[in-house]
Amino acid sequence: MSRKITVIGAGSVGATIAYTLSLESLASEIVLIDINKEKVEGEVMDIAQGMSFRDPISIIAGEYEDAANSDIVVITSGIARKPGQTRIELTQTNVNIMKKIAPEIVKVAPKALYVIVSNPVDIMTYVFAKTSGLPENQVIGSGTTLDTARLKTGLSEHFDVAQKNIHAYVFGEHGDTSFIPWSCAAIGGAKMDEYTKIAQSFDKETKPVDKEAMIEYVRKSGGKIIANKGATFYAIAVSVVKLCAKLLASSDSIATVSTLMHGEYGVDDVCLSVLTLVGPNGVQGKIPVELNDEEMEKLHASANALKEVIRGIEI
Ligand code: 2OP
Repeated sequence: MSRKITVIGAGSVGATIAYTLSLESLASEIVLIDINKEKVEGEVMDIAQGMSFRDPISIIAGEYEDAANSDIVVITSGIARKPGQTRIELTQTNVNIMKKIAPEIVKVAPKALYVIVSNPVDIMTYVFAKTSGLPENQVIGSGTTLDTARLKTGLSEHFDVAQKNIHAYVFGEHGDTSFIPWSCAAIGGAKMDEYTKIAQSFDKETKPVDKEAMIEYVRKSGGKIIANKGATFYAIAVSVVKLCAKLLASSDSIATVSTLMHGEYGVDDVCLSVLTLVGPNGVQGKIPVELNDEEMEKLHASANALKEVIRGIEI
């Protein structure tokens, strides 16, 4: 089937998403767009030459017009924080970039599903949802998809069990106030504490998960990778490409993506991640799992932190 995915922003994240897409069989057409023409042409040339080893698909360095008829548009544009810049200042800069891009791209691809990846992703998703004029089901922030992948990585290493058998999630902001709702975390159908006992019956050395250390590992992974190598792009690229696969699949899937809240869990008018049903028609709705009091408090703290940022910016 002929599918078209446009990626806006050819920085490390956008280019790696385009590269990862070029290895998959999801899209027969990929368009990469960036204001830096030299950079985007270089990225496309590099990706296209690697594609001589696969069945042909098209990849071009394009203009907004080339995004017409895209099934999915992925937005990664934005700048990284400069030394001395506050988080709010960075947010305003990226919000301004998003406000410029949104009308241009929505004009040519009004039917596409939009995956927002630019950071701070929950704020950028909110701004796009509020300013694009698109139906909300078409707007999906990558949210805590990557954080959930990091959690599964940590749990898989801890229990030495395949990630596909782990059903555990990160909720809230893609950032410092994210949290793990342990009450709905399971491995192979067994609750986390129950699974610890099962694992101990196989290997007495297995310790209970240090829950504080696990959320710290999740929250600090991005910062550690940036400190070590300057940027993070491989895992976010795979997370986004797998999210695109869910959006192009024949049935809906559950993901921790950032979408506008409408009173679910008592949270309203902010974008953050909870379990959400997504598929070929975009966002179908949230899956209202039961949270305990402490988890509910954490979700509200995350929502309040994001709302404070929203109050500080001009949309
Ligand atoms: C990450 O978490 C920094 O959002 C980026 O890898």
